[in-house]
Amino acid sequence: MHTKVFKLELFLVLSVLLLNISCSFAGPIVYKPPTSIGNYEYPYGVYIPSNFIIPDGNVFKFTLYLAGFVWFTCNGTSGEWSRDQFRSVYFNSKKEISFFPYSAVAELDFFRDNTMRSSIPKYDTSTLSFTCIDSAPSYNPKKDVWDEFCVIKRTTGDGAFSDITYLILTEAKNGAAPPNEKCGTNYPDGYIYSNAFTATILFCHNETQ
Ligand SMILES: *[C@@H]1O[C@H](CO)[C@@H](O)[C@H](O)[C@H]1NC(C)=O
Repeated sequence: MHTKVFKLELFLVLSVLLLNISCSFAGPIVYKPPTSIGNYEYPYGVYIPSNFIIPDGNVFKFTLYLAGFVWFTCNGTSGEWSRDQFRSVYFNSKKEISFFPYSAVAELDFFRDNTMRSSIPKYDTSTLSFTCIDSAPSYNPKKDVWDEFCVIKRTTGDGAFSDITYLILTEAKNGAAPPNEKCGTNYPDGYIYSNAFTATILFCHNETQ
């Protein structure tokens, strides 16, 4: 009986020792933050609504992946949700989202003219501000943010955004407001509803300039 217990203890001690040795071989996980903005490989099969007409000479430059929040305010009088604001951060790949905040390459300043600004000013100082000129229903319009086609009004600094002319937001997941029937009933007047979402953004520049 005693030897059996002893054997079990020895086995446990050995297992812990082995576990420690294997862990020290693996070493700490080192994450290398990005040093440039954009994934320059065209995302094969990406959906672009047919009413988004990109003027001649403008071509794909790079993709960013968005993760953020959209907030809606309930107007109890009209029984409608209005878009309050966007909070968005941009990444070079979907995988990088899990390493936030170290992995973000740009962020949105919604209150300063919809300005996208580099988050890595050591390597890229560019910004752009945009206005959306067309939209199209997303795959699931009751659940997902609609597709948007936007024109760039202004750029500053030096880097990836400097020569961007148009951008397209597509393939959003989530981010829609609740149904209007719920504003003024389930949600009181002035209620701010927050919905997290992700999306793909395609950036175009003019090849001929
Ligand atoms: C709410 O809706 C009503 C009716 O459409 C409108 O008169 C009012 O200005 C709206 N309130 C806000 C804060 O937008």
